[in-house]
Amino acid sequence: MRLVITDDYMEMSRKAAEWIAGEMKQKPGLVLGLATGSTPIGMYKELIEMYRKGQIDFSQVTTFNLDEYVGLHPEHPQSYHAYMWKHFFSHININKEHVNIPPGRFENEKDVCSRYDEKIKKSGGIDIQILGIGRNGHIGFNEPDSSLSIKTHIVNLALETIEANSRFFPQKDEVPKQAITMGLGSIMEAKTILLLANGRDKAAAIAKTLMGKVSTQIPASLLQLHPNVTMIMDKEAACFVTENKHVREWSFAYQSEGIG
Ligand code: F6R
Repeated sequence: MRLVITDDYMEMSRKAAEWIAGEMKQKPGLVLGLATGSTPIGMYKELIEMYRKGQIDFSQVTTFNLDEYVGLHPEHPQSYHAYMWKHFFSHININKEHVNIPPGRFENEKDVCSRYDEKIKKSGGIDIQILGIGRNGHIGFNEPDSSLSIKTHIVNLALETIEANSRFFPQKDEVPKQAITMGLGSIMEAKTILLLANGRDKAAAIAKTLMGKVSTQIPASLLQLHPNVTMIMDKEAACFVTENKHVREWSFAYQSEGIG
């Protein structure tokens, strides 16, 4: 794993965007796995800015989002469909046909999940998967459990996730209790993973992810088994990690080599 520690959220967002832009220049038909939530908003802003300056072109890029709330219509303001168009897709030249987000409303759970996995496969697989991390160590909506699903599936959200995400809803009881999420299989099959984290409330999850045992109780810890993971985080999120001298030296060594 490569670890890049930044001074603040802005720097984290800029570094992430610069890296993605660099990859897009090398492979214009990049397949990007995308996340929602507060963490990647700054990165999306930076990418939009680069697009406006004519530095990057999304016309050949394909995207797959990690997850969506079950039951929400794409036009529901708190749906991840609405989030993605508001914060990113409406501002760039992405082809609508290349945008994939799991549907929150469907008739047949099995069909909708297997179709999503099939589509990812048909695209050639995800080149770069962007991840945020939950305070409980979830990635996508793969919540801590005694076992984890490999494929796209429906999940009951953990109480702490409902609690954390209630900040986006007018009332806490409006937060959906279930989500459809990409499984650990598609995430782990991504060629490169870029995990972003900021803020002190992510510090414990980050420490367990990097320094703890690999456990389904901390889904992000499985990333220790992936050959190509870069984590960009601000110093607040890294605060427990940087207390560890060994990890501190290791991360600084990577920073001086640069990322990508
Ligand atoms: C969102 C997602 C989640 C979030 C995580 C952190 O698509 O998959 O795993 O990345 O809950 O959310 P924020 O960034 O709001 O702290």
